[in-house]
Amino acid sequence: MNGEIEALKKSRNAVVLAHNYCRGEVQDAADFTGDSLELARRATQVDADVIVFCGVYFMAETAAILNPSKTVLIPDASAGCAMADMITAAQLRELKAKHPGAKAVCYVNSTAEVKAECDTCVTSGNAEKVMRTFPPDQEILFVPDRHLGGHVARLLGRTYELWPGHCPVHAALTAEAVAAARKLHPGAPVLVHPECAEAVRDAADERLSTGGMCKFARESGAAEFLVGTEVGILHRLRKENPGKTFWPVDDRIVCPDMKKTTLENLAASLREMKTRVVVPEDVAVRARRAIDSMLELG
Ligand code: 13P
Ligand code: SF4
Repeated sequence: MNGEIEALKKSRNAVVLAHNYCRGEVQDAADFTGDSLELARRATQVDADVIVFCGVYFMAETAAILNPSKTVLIPDASAGCAMADMITAAQLRELKAKHPGAKAVCYVNSTAEVKAECDTCVTSGNAEKVMRTFPPDQEILFVPDRHLGGHVARLLGRTYELWPGHCPVHAALTAEAVAAARKLHPGAPVLVHPECAEAVRDAADERLSTGGMCKFARESGAAEFLVGTEVGILHRLRKENPGKTFWPVDDRIVCPDMKKTTLENLAASLREMKTRVVVPEDVAVRARRAIDSMLELG
């Protein structure tokens, strides 16, 4: 399968990008693996004709918005993000109408239509830096993740209007699980994703994007780490740090949509040039302003 994928990549002049939560074998077949911010940045630097995006739909949409002249494919177009579906563009327009003068900020885990309604977006890797650029008295509507929004608001000592969205996958991680994992592996720093609930973030040592976790593990002198996020990240952490040990805080934290990409549908995607991710131009142009603003600010 890997030989066929390599041959197809060459014949299609394609590059394969994969998120850190993808299956290990898909990450290994990719040309680049990263977090949402790293993947968005990498998508601006591609000179291939075709980008195959292994991850969830909103990430492939971002790549398509940044590359209107390239073909962007997603191996399984049903790979969505439950959090991204927790707010619609119509709901955001309604909220904005109630808060004239407020700036609308979306987590990149949102649809292109929602991004098109926003002033800027953030990822978990740059949210603090981007949000710091707003004056402290600027009213902010933060959608859709109340946990990432709440995390940054607290860090900066600000108050945001938080949309009540969340990630159902990270919602399954509990502070009790963190405490139990610490008992099993005393001394191991606990790294959790900012999409986790406040009690879990408070129970952890570090709150990091998946890319931030890779950097922390690389630079830390610790020999063991407890990782509180989707278990797909463990593949990359272990591969990049062979002398260190990584334990999941809870090995049931699995995003089913991130697991939809397989070597089989990746190969089929390249072979049959499917499924093409197309964002209507009027939406893409407006969403791009928010994405470009994020890439400039953070
Ligand atoms: P990262 O940007 O940290 O990779 O997170 C993306 C995501 O979907 C987390 O659930
Ligand atoms: Fe969306 Fe949560 Fe899956 Fe990330 S882990 S893609 S936020 S459902």
